[in-house]
Amino acid sequence: MADTGKRGKKAKKGLIPPISRRMFITSASAAAAGAALVGAGLLYNRARMRKKKLIRPKETELKVGFIGTGSQGRNLILAAVNIPGVRFTAITDIWPYHAGYAANILKEYGMPVATYADYQDMIAKEKLDAVIIATPDWVHAQQAIDCMKAGLHVYCEKEMASSL
Ligand SMILES: NC(=O)c1ccc[n+]([C@@H]2O[C@H](COP(=O)([O-])OP(=O)(O)OC[C@H]3O[C@@H](n4cnc5c(N)ncnc54)[C@H](O)[C@@H]3O)[C@@H](O)[C@H]2O)c1
Repeated sequence: MADTGKRGKKAKKGLIPPISRRMFITSASAAAAGAALVGAGLLYNRARMRKKKLIRPKETELKVGFIGTGSQGRNLILAAVNIPGVRFTAITDIWPYHAGYAANILKEYGMPVATYADYQDMIAKEKLDAVIIATPDWVHAQQAIDCMKAGLHVYCEKEMASSL
């Protein structure tokens, strides 16, 4: 950004820095805001394309199952659903209302999922690469151990267990 006024002439003579701190902060903030908007736009477009089913499941995508689609579970779904390479294919919740609610959210993102009431059925029937566990604390340990024994990668909500 060339400064052709008095400030520019002084800067050329080395009397003042060519760009003031205020100018730097203003342009850096504008650039950051621009980048954030572009990023948000890309995510939005990806969601819309998924909705229109323009993005098809790929062999290279990670097939992820979900156990416990309550309040934190839905937060995690929304946080993960736009990560490139992640595809939810199945969910489990003992409460059909929560399972159906989450399945509808995922359908909106172009990811129809199988729903289960028992995670053991899910991991036996689905070809998953990983699971996200967001059930109540006291069932985390057993569910995480069973999933790892089935060869799955596990993201488990805190707390991992209520005792050691
Ligand atoms: N990381 C964080 O900031 C954060 C924030 C909130 C909650 N959490 C953690 O997330 C976990 C879930 O909390 P929440 O607030 O979403 O609870 P929640 O009660 O809203 O959701 C839990 C869900 O798990 C289901 N469930 C219970 N037992 C199950 C089982 N055996 N198999 C399958 N589904 C089962 C319930 O029906 C419910 O839908 C807890 O461990 C909590 O500590 C973490």
